[in-house]
Amino acid sequence: MTAINYTDKIPNNVNLSEDRTLQRALEQWQPNYLKWWGDMGPDHSQNFDVYLRTAVSVDPQGWAQFGHVKMPDYRWGIFLNPAEKDRKIHFGDHLGEDAWQDIPGEYRANLRRIIVTQGDTEPASVEQQRHLGLTCPSQYDLRNLFQVNVEEGRHLWAMVYLLHKYFGRDGREEGEALLQRRSGQEDNPRILQAFNEETPDWLSFFMFTYFTDRDGKFQLCALAESSFDPLARTTKFMLTEEAHHMFVGESGISRVISRTCAAMNELKTDDVGKLRAAGVIDLPTIQRYLNFHFSVTIDLFGADESSNAATFYTTGLKGRFEEGKRMDDHILKGGTYKVLAVQGGQLVDKEVPMLNALNEVLRDDYIKDSIGGVERWNKVIEKAGIPFKLKAPHKAFHRNIGTLASVKVSPEGRVLSEAEWATHVDQWLPSETDRAFVASLMGRVVEPGKFSNWIAPPVMGVNRQPADFEYVRFN
Ligand SMILES: [Fe+2]
Ligand SMILES: [Fe+2]
Repeated sequence: MTAINYTDKIPNNVNLSEDRTLQRALEQWQPNYLKWWGDMGPDHSQNFDVYLRTAVSVDPQGWAQFGHVKMPDYRWGIFLNPAEKDRKIHFGDHLGEDAWQDIPGEYRANLRRIIVTQGDTEPASVEQQRHLGLTCPSQYDLRNLFQVNVEEGRHLWAMVYLLHKYFGRDGREEGEALLQRRSGQEDNPRILQAFNEETPDWLSFFMFTYFTDRDGKFQLCALAESSFDPLARTTKFMLTEEAHHMFVGESGISRVISRTCAAMNELKTDDVGKLRAAGVIDLPTIQRYLNFHFSVTIDLFGADESSNAATFYTTGLKGRFEEGKRMDDHILKGGTYKVLAVQGGQLVDKEVPMLNALNEVLRDDYIKDSIGGVERWNKVIEKAGIPFKLKAPHKAFHRNIGTLASVKVSPEGRVLSEAEWATHVDQWLPSETDRAFVASLMGRVVEPGKFSNWIAPPVMGVNRQPADFEYVRFN
C-alpha cells in the first residue's frame, strides 16, 4: 500500500493504472503542468542538476531519496498516507459515523472550494519565488529554494488529484484554472492576498517559509482531520514535506541573525549605518520584516467571526488543529471563545459562539507555534551577548481582514490615529529604504562552500553532505 509505483508516467501509490479514465485525465494535465513549470517555475534553472530529495515511499523512515535531478524531470506524483482501517468521523454533526471515501453530494461545493483554495497557494508560492535563484546567497540555499519549489509543485499535484478523481468535469476545469491564475497578476490573481505579494529578496523568502509555510501547516493539519478520508490522507503526507519548508525559514533567519550579531561584536556597535556599511542586516530591519510577514500571514486564517468556519466544522469538512488530542465534545455547540473587537476606539475582548470563532481558534494556535521560533532566534542574539529581543507583533497590528482591519494598532497593541500610524509606520514595517538596502545585498554566490557576507553558513549540510558539496551543477 505504501510503495510508490515509479514505472507509471505519473508516480503514485493510489493504483492509478486501475482507473484508466482518471489516469488519462491526469496524463492530459501533466504536460500543461510542465508548461506552467517552464513558464513560471524557477527562472533560468531548467538545465541545472539539483541535489533533491524525492519521495520513494510514504513510510516515515524511508521516504526520502537524494540525488541530482533536473527539475523538469522531478518525479511529481500522487502520494497518500496509508488508509487507517475503519476510520471514524471524530467531530461535528457526523461524529462516530464512518469516514467518507467519496464526497456526499451536499458537501461537494464547500469541499471543492476548500481544495481549490489550498491548491491555489501551492503554485502561487513557486511564482512568488521564481527570481530568487538569481540572487542566492549560496549553493546550499539555492538547493533548498529549489527543494521547496518542487515540493510546492507536488502539493499542487496532490490537490489536482482530488479534483480530478472526485469532482469530474468541474474538477478538471479547476485543475486547469490552477495553472492559469498568476501571483500578483491584476486580471487573474491567486485567490489569497498573501500569495499575491512579491517575495523580492532572501530575507523575505526566509520569513515567508517560516511564517507563511507555517500557515500551510495549520491549514493542512485542520484538513488532515477531515471526514473526507482521501483529503485527510493526502494532507497528512503533505505535512511531512512542509516541515522542511519551515526548517528552511527558521534556520535561514537564524543564520542571518547569527551573522549580524557576529558583525556587531566585531565592530562593537549597534549603529544601523555602520552595520549596513559592513554589509549585514541590522536587527531592527529583521524585526520590521518579521512584523510584515507575521501580520500578512495571520490574515490568511480569515475573518475572526465566520459562519463558513462554523459550517465547515459542523459538517465535518475541516477540523481544528490536533482535533483528536482535544478533550471536549468535538461538537462545540453552546461553547464560546474570545475574539478582539473595537469599542470606543479601544480593543476589547468579546465572547462569541465557539463555532463562529474557529478561524480565530486556528489563528491563535498558529500564533503560539510561530512564537516558538522567535524565541529560538532570541537565543542566538542572547548567546552573542547582545541586548535585543525580537518580538511577534500584537495580533491586531497591520491587519487587513476581519474586525481588526478597521483600526490602526501599534505592534504593542495600542490603538492609534491615522496620523500616529503614518508617523511611525516606517519604524514598524519595512520601508522603501529598508527594502532597497536588503535588495542591495542580494548578489549571487554559487561557488561551492561560499556564502554571502550577510548570512552565516548552516550548521550542517543537506543529507550530511560536506560544506563544499556541489548541490547544483549548472551545466
Ligand atoms: Fe505546500
Ligand atoms: Fe510549503
